[in-house]
Amino acid sequence: MMILKHTVMSFLLLACFNGLASDRVEKQAAIASAHALATSAGFAILAQGGNAFDAAVAMSATLAVVEPSGSGLGGGGFWLLHRASDGFETMLDGREKAPLAAHRSMYLDQQGRVIPGLSKNGALAAGIPGLPAALVHLAEKYGRLPLAQSLQFAIQCAEQGFVIGQRHSKLLKFRLTVLQKHPEAAGIFLKDKHLPATTSILRQTDLAHTLKQLARDGRKGFYAGAVADRLVDGVRNAGGIWTHQDLHDYRVVEREPVKGEYHQVKITSAALPSSGGVVLVEALNILAGYPLEDINAISRKHIISEAMRRAYHDRAFHLGDSDFVNVPVNRLINKDYAAGLSSSIRLDKATPSDFLAGNFQAKIQGEDTTHFSIIDSEGNRVAATLSINFPFGSGFVPAGTGVLLNNEMDDFVSKPGAMNGYGLVGGEANAIEPGKRMLSSMTPTFIEDAERVAVLGTPGGSRIISMVLLAVLEFAKGHGPESWVWEPRFHHQYIPDQIQYEKGGMSRDEIAGLTMLGHQLKEVRYRYGNMQAVLWNKKSKLFTVASDPRGEGLALIR
Ligand code: DON
Repeated sequence: MMILKHTVMSFLLLACFNGLASDRVEKQAAIASAHALATSAGFAILAQGGNAFDAAVAMSATLAVVEPSGSGLGGGGFWLLHRASDGFETMLDGREKAPLAAHRSMYLDQQGRVIPGLSKNGALAAGIPGLPAALVHLAEKYGRLPLAQSLQFAIQCAEQGFVIGQRHSKLLKFRLTVLQKHPEAAGIFLKDKHLPATTSILRQTDLAHTLKQLARDGRKGFYAGAVADRLVDGVRNAGGIWTHQDLHDYRVVEREPVKGEYHQVKITSAALPSSGGVVLVEALNILAGYPLEDINAISRKHIISEAMRRAYHDRAFHLGDSDFVNVPVNRLINKDYAAGLSSSIRLDKATPSDFLAGNFQAKIQGEDTTHFSIIDSEGNRVAATLSINFPFGSGFVPAGTGVLLNNEMDDFVSKPGAMNGYGLVGGEANAIEPGKRMLSSMTPTFIEDAERVAVLGTPGGSRIISMVLLAVLEFAKGHGPESWVWEPRFHHQYIPDQIQYEKGGMSRDEIAGLTMLGHQLKEVRYRYGNMQAVLWNKKSKLFTVASDPRGEGLALIR
């Protein structure tokens, strides 16, 4: 067994292991996730005869319990799948949907101004969850084990509890005032309305009960019956607009992943309603024309930032749920289109974003969501990025469910040109409509060349795509997962017109050089992202894995 990162003490693992067989599998598999218990859940299911898809069910459910800040039954996500037996690839879209009573001005006051906080906090901020339906679909269509078996580990974690740890505490503090306003959520996550000690044990009996209903009745255990009654009543009593029809109608969708090629590297990534794959491939197509490895760091970062600027510009203007709007995806990921865009990049000068269009100010906020990567011993792969949006989502739990609801409605455009919580702007394509999925940046991705195949992804809001882009460039240089997760990060998202970089992530010379080219630079005060990556070398038959040093995750081969 190889441990690259393991910051959670081993006694934590024991708490949820009772009753689960953990015989060693004959051949090796690799898993990286944001929490040691989720990685353990994945390996436990593989040891019970499950495949990567069963492991993904177990890990998604376990993360819902042990990393409630990032994802959960009250949220959604994207699972990028590769089936080894026939090479079939699909993206399972379990993204939240706008309730049927939603409308485009629901977060505006009478004067048409955005009401601060309404799309971010409380019951009105929550889209209809997709994660429970996705778990059922994954287990039934791709898994080998019964859903109930794959959910068992998560149920035990919810019942027996786990030690919350530092990251959980830090994120609780970030969302303290919102959680304090919602008694049910405060009762679960706070202690007498205050922050619990970092070593506290969190037990979630209502959530365990809801998971058991899902295990017993499949999608009806969540989207119908007593759980649905509690969800709808809880939301409506708190000013929300969910109906039984919304829950009844929710369906996951399988979508064809976005594919691209950068030099000899094949990219397979998220389709709409995530912007991830399109923006990633568009930026890589622009970059393919430059000898990035042979130029100095200042020019390299300049060109990469200009590519990001142009791809995020197209995100703002064109991307949204393709079930509702026409999106010119084929044009955006076309190489000739990219060549046109790169002809507008000047090597001696930054292009001001308002030369491209639009002129908005933006402010970047909090960090959460989660990602895990799996390659099992048969070669099945899963890259899953799951979210409730902000840390602890909307901060709202419908009474008796234990289900913390997302605030993913904030990923829609509340008003054309108004920024969301990640400073992203957009227009008509991502306007709110009943039953529509809000545009995402989540970018679960496979990268492959003649020798290697990798599975990766990260949380990080709008910066997800640029983090994955930097990782692909590292892969193309021949570097492995450790270098992708350790590498200092920088980002440009068109608006605000600035290169953001991680604390300590740019040298003085780079800052001076990029400033001289006309870029605004902004140091982000913290280090962002929580990338989880696994790589299989087809020639040497060896795995390499890495979990982001910025988080508390665990990457293992066994
Ligand atoms: O779907 C999206 O793009 C966002 N809701 C993801 C949020 C996220 O990654 C938060 N983490 N920093």
